[in-house]
Amino acid sequence: MIFIWILFIGITNVMSEDFYSFTVKDWQGNNVSLEQYRGKVTLVVNVASECSYTDSHYEALVGIQEKLNKGNRNVFQVLAFPSNQFGNQEPNSDRHIQAWAKDMFDINFPIFAKGAVVKEEVENADELPDVWRFLSEKTEPPNWNFWKYLIDPNGNVVQAYSPQINIRQVYPDIKKLLFKYNLIDKSEL
Ligand SMILES: *[C@@H]1O[C@H](CO)[C@@H](O)[C@H](O)[C@H]1NC(C)=O
Repeated sequence: MIFIWILFIGITNVMSEDFYSFTVKDWQGNNVSLEQYRGKVTLVVNVASECSYTDSHYEALVGIQEKLNKGNRNVFQVLAFPSNQFGNQEPNSDRHIQAWAKDMFDINFPIFAKGAVVKEEVENADELPDVWRFLSEKTEPPNWNFWKYLIDPNGNVVQAYSPQINIRQVYPDIKKLLFKYNLIDKSEL
């Protein structure tokens, strides 16, 4: 009986877990619920300031954030998570990252707190946020900066894209997903 109860709780927990059910830290250390993004198509990216992929990705991410939300609609969201885990290419503080991204790219999407995006088996390693455990389990963990994770409006992870795949190549998939959920017209495909 207890076993069945535990099994039931386990299944309920797994079923209730979707991208928007997690809480993350903003750059000032506050807890932020991802529920505010439910209903949109979301692209999650693990970013770094000093990577060879940095400029092209940031510029394109700012571009699609603006383009897909034109006319004041609110259907698509880029969410950036800085991490220093790959090549030490995000060495600076959260405050510095925010100022730099605003200055260089005039970012129009949130950059959350710098932290782990993959589990590290080292002493005193930053704890892996639950949302990154979830993204890795559903697809695959990042092995460098600028992986992209495409999330549907219900919080399901649709696909992961490696850093070598640029935003221009991901863009048609984003639009198809927006159309599938009636968030854009067929004429925009
Ligand atoms: C964030 O949430 C965690 C877990 O509920 C809690 O332990 C922590 O105190 C919260 N931090 C802030 C800054 O509110």
